[in-house]
Amino acid sequence: MKKLVVLISGNGSNLQSIIDACANKYINANVVAVFSDKPKAYGLIRAQNANIPIHVLSDKNFVNREIFDSHLIQKIELYTPDLIILAGYMKILSDFFIIKYHKKIINIHPSLLPKYPGLYTHRQVLKNRDKEHGTTVHFVNNKLDGGPIILQSTIPVFIEDTEKEIIKRVKYQEHIIYPLAIRWFIEDRLEIRKNVVTLDGLILPSQGLLYNK
Ligand code: GAR
Repeated sequence: MKKLVVLISGNGSNLQSIIDACANKYINANVVAVFSDKPKAYGLIRAQNANIPIHVLSDKNFVNREIFDSHLIQKIELYTPDLIILAGYMKILSDFFIIKYHKKIINIHPSLLPKYPGLYTHRQVLKNRDKEHGTTVHFVNNKLDGGPIILQSTIPVFIEDTEKEIIKRVKYQEHIIYPLAIRWFIEDRLEIRKNVVTLDGLILPSQGLLYNK
């Protein structure tokens, strides 16, 4: 059985969707460990409820990002993961970490990349009165939220929307497309060749596949 290691910093609703997808065999793999940089992340409780080992590595205990990440790698390696999944992990990874897990780390980001990399995506959507917003699953490279895209999903934005409402709409889509992308990876259907992603050997468009439910 293939092994997934998930990194979180907060609520862990995406983690939950992955745990559930493994439990009901939608993804033929197991979440073997969950790591958080925040001791109070609710996702840690979700992991414990599913009997998944948890690890908290707080950056307060390390001098710099490289030392932090080398400790993180040491602990992750004990699980020999097939895929590293960033699920609301809000710490920037060192190049060292990204090279170590080249082609084996994916992330979900709450915007239609390349629009709005970084923080406060929902706020920017509302401020700019965008009519459309969404979420992106991508492989991780050394550019912040800039790696090759696998899947995107869009949501409508209405004039009367609050941030809370669009976050809810985005997360609903995230909980569908993240397990789907992970399933493709685990089934060896996804690959990165140079900077392009292929699915079943076919090159995906630069903005990945669009999946809307
Ligand atoms: C998700 O919306 C995810 O896209 C975002 O954090 C949220 C985590 O929610 N990730 C990023 O912003 C990464 N740049 P969750 O803890 O409920 O899964």
